[in-house]
Amino acid sequence: MNIVLVGPPGCGKGTQAKMLSEKLGIPHISTGDILRNAIAQNTALGKQVALYMEKGGLVPDDIVSAIVAERLSHDDASGGFILDGFPRTLEQAKSLESALLKKTHGKLDKVFYFDLADEAVIRRLSGRRSCKKCGRVFHITFSPPRRPDMCDNCGQPLYHRSDDEPDTIKQRLEIYKKQTVSLINYYKNQNVLATIPADRKIQDILEDVLSHTGNL
Ligand code: AP5
Repeated sequence: MNIVLVGPPGCGKGTQAKMLSEKLGIPHISTGDILRNAIAQNTALGKQVALYMEKGGLVPDDIVSAIVAERLSHDDASGGFILDGFPRTLEQAKSLESALLKKTHGKLDKVFYFDLADEAVIRRLSGRRSCKKCGRVFHITFSPPRRPDMCDNCGQPLYHRSDDEPDTIKQRLEIYKKQTVSLINYYKNQNVLATIPADRKIQDILEDVLSHTGNL
């Protein structure tokens, strides 16, 4: 199954994508994670994209589209994938279609739009803590780790993402509204969109999403 998750920053795309990936046995592909990894490893790509990400801006379409096209060509994505954070612009949506057509993937089966109000986004991002080693995501109130600031999964220290500071969150929300919201209608017109109210418990959201995939 070929799945895309769309929604404002902090709506829970990464949280749901990890669980869905396990349930459905298809890879979770997060452009944010790929780009953060490149920055952490100080690669040429990392140097190229660091400034955009620090300021909460979008990395240019051609860079992210090439990353995704390459990632989709790996064998593990041949039976389907979950794209988290891509596409984010119409331009990216169109290049995804060309990348899919070139491969045997065909088309998108479902685009899940996680609908969440700005106030909830701010609450979630201000309290998010992530593990640099295994990528597991926590929230100091909504899903706290067993030991403060330590990952339950691998025992490494958790960190607060630099783009989760109040001014950068505001900037990311503005960019989301300017550049990404138009994708909702784009996919609605293609009859692949399912709107998921995201201000609910993590497990309830997962069940809702799974019910649309026929895998409950
Ligand atoms: P990216 O990493 O994709 O960031 P984002 O889209 O802003 O999304 P987030 O990762 O912040 O949030 P999420 O929706 O995954 O929520 P999460 O599950 O963590 O992108 C970062 C940057 O990379 C961009 O700003 C841009 O610069 C660049 N980039 C990436 N892709 C790009 C592209 N395609 N084009 C151009 N540039 C690109 O949850 C958030 C918090 O809420 C967590 O603490 C979690 O525990 C908690 N939580 C989750 N679900 C619930 C729930 N149901 N109830 C309560 N708390 C919950």
